[in-house]
Amino acid sequence: MVQYEATKVEPEMSVLEMLDVLNEKLISQGEEPIAFDSDCREGICGTCGMMINGIAHGPQRGTTVCQLQIRNFRDGDPLRLEPWQDRAFPVIKDVVVNRASLDRIIQAGGFISAQTGSVPEANSVQVPKTNADQAMDAAACIGCGACVAACPNGSASLFTAAKISHLALMPQGQPERSRRVISMVADMDQEGFGNCTMHRECEAVCPKEISVRFIVQMNREYLRASFKEREIIIPAIAQPSAAGV
Ligand code: SF4
Ligand code: FES
Repeated sequence: MVQYEATKVEPEMSVLEMLDVLNEKLISQGEEPIAFDSDCREGICGTCGMMINGIAHGPQRGTTVCQLQIRNFRDGDPLRLEPWQDRAFPVIKDVVVNRASLDRIIQAGGFISAQTGSVPEANSVQVPKTNADQAMDAAACIGCGACVAACPNGSASLFTAAKISHLALMPQGQPERSRRVISMVADMDQEGFGNCTMHRECEAVCPKEISVRFIVQMNREYLRASFKEREIIIPAIAQPSAAGV
């Protein structure tokens, strides 16, 4: 750990803006700047995550690091910044980690096969309002990895469940529904993420406040798929599942 003194910090700055100012100072002094990740800086890309004083994304609920303002801390408070710590997220430098393991879970099944071409007429596929609302809640996941970092088991169940549930609730997600859950859960296990034992730490730190009820839905989806896709499930169940089924 290295200790820096951040000066010229305003209450309305975000933590990332504080790091920008600090890095400018370090560069002007000929020192190496602190490496951190960011892109959108408006809470939608999921790249900026880090532990702040032991809490994923810091102390403000439902907030990403890029939107966490300095006014949430007292003047002179020490901020202990650490990278996500999980074997599936190798540290690249300082607070930057490689979250490609989450991308690979998506590649395993987080997509639909649909005809390309012009946009279909909006009312041609009817979606019940409750399904649309729940799918929207699940789709809010930004893939930041805070759920993994906060979980004592290092489980990616909340992330995976959000992606599976989002597509399972929509008509467009039906053709691959069973194969998707089996494939994504199998990849989640292969990546080295732990099992979910419902500590609910993931839900507490998720900046998009994704509910653990999606993990319940993922487990139901997995059970349903195990009957529908028996020829695929038989090799898959030879290993214990992160979905806990
Ligand atoms: S479920 Fe929440 S904490 Fe986990 S990756 Fe998605 S947005 Fe981040
Ligand atoms: S920089 Fe995109 S969510 Fe923080």
